[in-house]
Amino acid sequence: MSLKQQYGSLALVAGASEGIGAAYAEYLAKEGLDLILVARRKEPLEQFAATLIEKYKIKADCICCDLADTNAAQELYNMLQGKEINMLVYNAALSYIGPFEKNSIEHHNRIAQANMITPMNLMQLFGTPMLAKGKGAIILMASLAGFQGSGFLSVYAASKAFDRVLAESLWYEWKDKGVDVIACCAGATATPNFIDTNPEKTSFFAPRVQEPAEVVQECFKHLGKRPSFITGTGNKIASFIMQKLMPRKMAILIMGDTTRKMYRL
Ligand SMILES: NC(=O)c1ccc[n+]([C@@H]2O[C@H](COP(=O)([O-])OP(=O)(O)OC[C@H]3O[C@@H](n4cnc5c(N)ncnc54)[C@H](OP(=O)(O)O)[C@@H]3O)[C@@H](O)[C@H]2O)c1
Repeated sequence: MSLKQQYGSLALVAGASEGIGAAYAEYLAKEGLDLILVARRKEPLEQFAATLIEKYKIKADCICCDLADTNAAQELYNMLQGKEINMLVYNAALSYIGPFEKNSIEHHNRIAQANMITPMNLMQLFGTPMLAKGKGAIILMASLAGFQGSGFLSVYAASKAFDRVLAESLWYEWKDKGVDVIACCAGATATPNFIDTNPEKTSFFAPRVQEPAEVVQECFKHLGKRPSFITGTGNKIASFIMQKLMPRKMAILIMGDTTRKMYRL
């Protein structure tokens, strides 16, 4: 069964104009779904939408809003004026790399809002009608950073742990009601955001940086079958070693030391 037959014909991708979000949008457009694309910057979003419309002959509408704003989820929901969303992909995230105390309280709060509160509210607003219909899908982007304490990524990592646990919990609650939920736990992925952080390669054994399209393909392989998954073989192996073979303290030390070296902190 195609994605469109299984879930319906309209998907909303939050954080859609580049990187992993754009790869989700392109995958769904190729599958023939119409799209609502969300990001802050109008121009790249509209250009990307035009490319998808031309290439895949689908409909794509753009909504420019900041998902870190306090009322973002409700405003986004209101703007859609009752349109039935069959699939929600929440990709957007904010991060801060550095000592916790050096970031402003305001920015920490915006990270928490964009990465936890807004997706949680959207899951309720769009998940409830999906449940009433008995079909739908929700994908939340999580991260390997959220598997243990991650020094210098503290609030981002904690927010990604929240995303994974929220998605896994709703996977359980909604699995027999036709609504598939999954947390996609990615490792380093070559998105403009990641490349802009200018990371240093820390070890020959560090898992390979993945391409956004690989992450997305893997996600659709697992959607409907698992509550969460780790992308890429290298990430799976690294995570197995850190989570199953090492004491937690050692995993936290390795993660903090790696981030410190990667970002010359
Ligand atoms: N890249 C990695 O290495 C990596 C690793 C593990 C997990 N992840 C997860 O994968 C997801 C994508 O990560 P990424 O940073 O690489 O981004 P990305 O996939 O390149 O996506 C960024 C997109 O989100 C939009 N966006 C960002 N902040 C927004 C906001 N406040 N409101 C609305 N739209 C917003 C951006 O457009 P505008 O700038 O125009 O708003 C852009 O379209 C995140 O959830 C991240 O936690 C990424």
